Amino acid sequence: MEQLLQRIQELKQEISGFEATDAAAAENFRIKYLGTKGVVKAMMGEMKNVPAEQRKEFGLVLNDFKQFAEARYESFAQRNGTQKAASAGIDLSLPGDAIPVGSRHPLSLVRNQVVSIFKRLGFAVAEGPEIEDDWHNFGAMNLPEDHPARDMQDTFYINQNPSWLLRTHTSSVQARVMEKQKPPIRVICPGRVYRNETVSARAHCFFHQVEGLYVDENVSFADLKQTLYFFVQEMFGKEVKVRFRPSYFPFTEPSAEMDISCLICGGDGCTVCKHTGWVEILGSGMVHPKVLDNFGIDSNKYTGFAFGMGVERITQLKYQVNDLRLYSQNDIRFLKQFTGAV
Ligand code: DAH
Repeated sequence: MEQLLQRIQELKQEISGFEATDAAAAENFRIKYLGTKGVVKAMMGEMKNVPAEQRKEFGLVLNDFKQFAEARYESFAQRNGTQKAASAGIDLSLPGDAIPVGSRHPLSLVRNQVVSIFKRLGFAVAEGPEIEDDWHNFGAMNLPEDHPARDMQDTFYINQNPSWLLRTHTSSVQARVMEKQKPPIRVICPGRVYRNETVSARAHCFFHQVEGLYVDENVSFADLKQTLYFFVQEMFGKEVKVRFRPSYFPFTEPSAEMDISCLICGGDGCTVCKHTGWVEILGSGMVHPKVLDNFGIDSNKYTGFAFGMGVERITQLKYQVNDLRLYSQNDIRFLKQFTGAV
């Protein structure tokens, strides 16, 4: 054992002194020390000559020796690689090419934020198709046959089959959820919607909404207000003022629209708030009993509230975007401004 330890010590010195200035010399080193018939292997073969009680200690020394030889070989390989690069005219000390990092689209940022706020309140995400039928988009939502929203002027119908259309609102997802799920229901439905509008700074033929639906026993208008107050505070901060205005939607009764104080002018009056100091951000109300009945949900036992908000509008207020067309033009100068935003 003593002799073996002595021998390993000598071999280590020999390895330290070994220089490999090119790939061939490094390969010679590998064969001599690390190859299958190499020195390291041979030393391992000595294990059987070591008395049993000293084998553990010798094993540790051997391992260390092996790693020592391997590290030396690595250092040759690295140095030779660098030299090779240098002789080929490559400067390895130059900084690498930066890979430009993209960013989320502002509408995605805002949608994700809206969804995460409602998730904290226990809402689950639900989705539905963008190509819908008349029933889910209109009929089930209590929009009568002669309702102007069904008009060809507002709705894109599918040529091949006019009973299909591009959904005009995410309220259609309410219908999709209620036909599958029974109360308690608490869902948030983000998605794209389409309307036959002339594209301008203030209107677009497609945009995005987030729909909310909550159906259970004893759900009240107070729950609706409190939920939406919470949302506004989380989204825009505690200083923002909120007001409800009575309104009309076929699928809710009573119905209300919610305004927040204008974030662009701080309530002093500007073109975004049309000099009123208030901006509408969503429609809402208590789910109409007829809508519940359409899905076999007992409207004597259950009540619910619903709301639908425009993602573009909220993004406009949050990031001061003054032209709806910017969202879909893919202008890098616009999109770049959201790098780093989460
Ligand atoms: N669907 C309405 C729209 O597109 C928004 C809306 C209003 C949704 C009231 C609702 C609601 O769920 O209760 O303008």
